[in-house]
Amino acid sequence: MQVIPWYVTSTIPQTNREFVKVYSAYFSHKNESDFFPLLSAEETSQVSRLVPPEKSKQKVISRGILRQILSRYTGDNPQRIKINSGKNGKPFLERRYNPLNISFNVAHSGDIALFAVSNFDSIGIDIEKLDTGKDLDSIAAIMFSMKEREFLKNSTEKNDVFHQIWTLKEAILKCYGYGFAYPSSEFSVVLNEGAEQIYTPPDDLSKGRNCTIMSFTPGEGYIAAISILKKDNF
Ligand SMILES: CC(C)(COP(=O)(O)OP(=O)(O)OC[C@H]1O[C@@H](n2cnc3c(N)ncnc32)[C@H](O)[C@@H]1OP(=O)(O)O)[C@@H](O)C(=O)NCCC(=O)NCCS
Repeated sequence: MQVIPWYVTSTIPQTNREFVKVYSAYFSHKNESDFFPLLSAEETSQVSRLVPPEKSKQKVISRGILRQILSRYTGDNPQRIKINSGKNGKPFLERRYNPLNISFNVAHSGDIALFAVSNFDSIGIDIEKLDTGKDLDSIAAIMFSMKEREFLKNSTEKNDVFHQIWTLKEAILKCYGYGFAYPSSEFSVVLNEGAEQIYTPPDDLSKGRNCTIMSFTPGEGYIAAISILKKDNF
């Protein structure tokens, strides 16, 4: 498993009290059978219903790796960790099973899975394969704000710009726990690759709490973004 050293590309303070780590794994380098025994009974039953088999395999591997990572922070055996889900499906650890009070989030696309772990209040991560086969304008017409659609229309590197906007928006929505239950066209992001920025989402999404966002490249042909809810982001 590769650990992307977040501190190399970020000014987020790396003290004993505050950390953000992003782990990445390639599905094609992993065997499903190594991770299957780590899953809970509920997860095992969920994956057995997933089609196609590739989707089920990826779910087994990503849940298994997530459990291995979380076990480093909780001290529990990976298979004993209790992962709950919030109202819109965001996984979290209950306080009593979470001695370091960590937040975490997962994303997968193509062959890569990303796992973000932090002791900031909340974290969201997203990754997209830079797939050129999509009808970008039709998707943007539904999912992007007017300002973002204008920006995309005028950009020369349309594919990169589309995926950068998309991952930033999704990381923000995952950070606040809504996912696409919140209309993604209701807010606009500004691109600033490789640099952290404080972002102010609409109040009904953020309840007045800004997040820190950043785009990064997790592997060739992919783009990713992270969003963090820090204690002093008001
Ligand atoms: C969260 C969401 C944006 C993920 O989109 P995606 O592009 O399919 O998947 P990604 O690879 O980016 O992320 C998947 C991971 O996000 C996490 N996740 C799920 N719901 C989440 C949420 N509401 N907020 C943050 N993270 C979430 C999970 O860990 C999931 O991985 P897992 O299924 O292996 O555990 C999308 O599923 C969504 O909008 N969900 C909320 C709205 C909804 O449909 N709710 C119905 C279910 S309650």
